Amino acid sequence: MDLKEKIKLLGQEVEEFKIKSAEDLESFRIKYLGSKGNLKLLYSDLKSVPNELKRDFGQLINKLKNSTESKFNDFKASVETKQIDDAKNKIDLSRPAEEHQLGARHPLAVVKNEIIDIFKRIGFTVSEGPEIEDDWHNFSALNFPPEHPARDMQDTFFIETGENEMALRTHTSSVQVRVMENEKPPIRTISPGRVYRNEAISARAHCFFHQVEGLYIDTDVSFADLKQTLLYFAQEMFGEKTKIRLRPSYFPFTEPSAEVDISCTICNAKGCNVCKYTGWLEILGCGMVDPNVLEAVNIDSKQYSGFAFGMGIERIAQLKYRVNDLRLYSENDIRFLKQFKSAY
Ligand code: PHE
Repeated sequence: MDLKEKIKLLGQEVEEFKIKSAEDLESFRIKYLGSKGNLKLLYSDLKSVPNELKRDFGQLINKLKNSTESKFNDFKASVETKQIDDAKNKIDLSRPAEEHQLGARHPLAVVKNEIIDIFKRIGFTVSEGPEIEDDWHNFSALNFPPEHPARDMQDTFFIETGENEMALRTHTSSVQVRVMENEKPPIRTISPGRVYRNEAISARAHCFFHQVEGLYIDTDVSFADLKQTLLYFAQEMFGEKTKIRLRPSYFPFTEPSAEVDISCTICNAKGCNVCKYTGWLEILGCGMVDPNVLEAVNIDSKQYSGFAFGMGIERIAQLKYRVNDLRLYSENDIRFLKQFKSAY
């Protein structure tokens, strides 16, 4: 058979080849396009064609090669879409549904809600305010004179805004200044919220944390009221056997000021590594509102007195759940977060 005839027959064969499945497509490829395929054989036949005819035959074979390749490519595309369609049609409707993962509240939210709940029961309202504060609300109104070293107690993040220097609030006492400016005594409020301090991040310190601060202003509010309120809180939060201890301290906005410890709930005050064998755990700062603060917000300090306290939510959560690395609260590792199931 001459080469021309061979090309023609092969052309017909390629055209008539029925491709219905991925397997057919593969046999088509091997038979015609593979390294030992029929088209390759034609190219070797070309070697024996006289030189002056080589060009014409070469063109004929190339044409056949192109049409074979385009038939292959067309079917390849349709076989692939068919496979996807088949996979879609194979959905097993009787398969049980995937389980829904129930989320849990963040431990800091759980503790915050519990603290709010305890103070709500004795008549405290909840007040909130901005995290970006001016100097007046975060410092000056709270009896921090300019250049006073007490400002260094709270390493502040300042924000450049052009005219007024602003800062990220270092405590939620700033919210209480706003409440005192806008409301008349009696005032009984707690201010939960996030606060910021310029500290290196470690297991024991972070550049932000959360607080609940409390404020009570009325006529004849005494230190005994403060002490009893905090004892009530400690027993509601840590159990009715909990004792409290007040140690003298210093804050610019309270006078006198105190640091409050609770009896160690972990070892029942017997001494353990959490309370460093003292039997006591520090939980908050407090004091009687300094008259200068009341005057700064136009509350008559002769008529009214008040107490204030502030605690870190992370600290309370640490004692309740024995979390010993602060960073866990903001890393959002699902294995950590999942462990907190609560009514709050
Ligand atoms: N504002 C204080 C702080 O952030 C806590 C505090 C509040 C202390 C109220 C006394 C009275 O450290």
